[in-house]
Amino acid sequence: MLSGWQLPRSASRATVDAINRYLSAEWGNRLVDGWNDWIDEAQSTGDLIGRAALGAGPGQVLAVDTTSVNFYQLCHAAVRARPGRRKVITDRANFPTDRYILEGLCDDLDLDLVYIDDETGEEFVTPEALREVVDNDTALVTLSVIQYRSGALHRIPELTAIARGAGALFVWDASHAVGVVPMAFDRDGVDLAVGCTYKYGNSGAGSPAWLYVRSSIQDELEVPIQGWFAQRDQFAMGHGFDRARSIRGFQIASPSIIGLRCVQTAFSMIERATLPAIAHKAAVGTQLMIDLHDEWLAPLGCSLITPRDAHHRGGHVTIRHAEARKISLGMRQFANVIGDYRQPDCIRLAISPLATSYVEVWEGFNRLRELIATGKYADATEPTSRVT
Ligand SMILES: Cc1ncc(COP(=O)(O)O)c(C=O)c1O
Repeated sequence: MLSGWQLPRSASRATVDAINRYLSAEWGNRLVDGWNDWIDEAQSTGDLIGRAALGAGPGQVLAVDTTSVNFYQLCHAAVRARPGRRKVITDRANFPTDRYILEGLCDDLDLDLVYIDDETGEEFVTPEALREVVDNDTALVTLSVIQYRSGALHRIPELTAIARGAGALFVWDASHAVGVVPMAFDRDGVDLAVGCTYKYGNSGAGSPAWLYVRSSIQDELEVPIQGWFAQRDQFAMGHGFDRARSIRGFQIASPSIIGLRCVQTAFSMIERATLPAIAHKAAVGTQLMIDLHDEWLAPLGCSLITPRDAHHRGGHVTIRHAEARKISLGMRQFANVIGDYRQPDCIRLAISPLATSYVEVWEGFNRLRELIATGKYADATEPTSRVT
């Protein structure tokens, strides 16, 4: 049966094997002694993510913590590195955790948070819209590479250059892009970025997130949480914080080794499959969804908010319907098609290229068409879980 559009239908066998091996042969045998070998895994795993998916050379990515923690750390560091500048810019359609963290940061540091409003209908921030608000009072600009709701893909080089041109720093949230669209952080002048590993990264629920800091600015940035892993001589255990002048200076504390092994397994697969091949399948799969939407769903009251140009979207497509919430519940309860309902009237459907076939995409849309056409979704009941 079709299910789990944004995640594989089951954890990969390689991941299960890697965790079993870790539990029995490493932690199981060596216990605390294993830290001699595990201590730098946030860095080596970060290098793998950088190589496989971000276009980032070694020593610039760490696989640690959550996207939210990493986002706070890097945004805080960015505004501290631009003293005297008062403006922080994001867009109103950005992911909630980013907006909430920025609100708190700006309240704490007495900065002005400026929102860009969507004028495209696709939640797409154009270079013109950014140029209108960026000036020499801007400390930080932050956007998502791919919008969590509409799926619109921002143009990293162009938007980054606008912020840099005004002397501001840019933090990209690449959670919906990593593992599905090729990115070239080193080439495109990206200074700072964060993202998760549990969407197209296929690394599992709550798997470690990552952060990227361009090597040329690692010295000038100070993150607010001064943890012991960032200390230059960590095991000297001395008094006074003396930050490591490398990507290690951005690590707070002990990484989850089990979580990192899931990330290593999944990103090794991405590296082997290659990002261009994965992105090609995402482009074909999302085009299939758009064609099926136009032919089957538009006549039933649906509309599309995702860009139709494959160069401007990633691996998901979002459709609107006045009864989106009920339809989304009905998809799970009656059709075994797992999408995401997103406020106020959106249903998000993804192809995870390493795990989802084109036939599954076709069959999922076929079931969706039938659900809406027959009106069966109206019988869907509210779930007891809050995650829909
Ligand atoms: C764009 C984006 N940013 C941040 C997050 C939050 O991630 P985390 O729970 O790892 O902090 C998510 C979660 O889905 C997301 O989609």
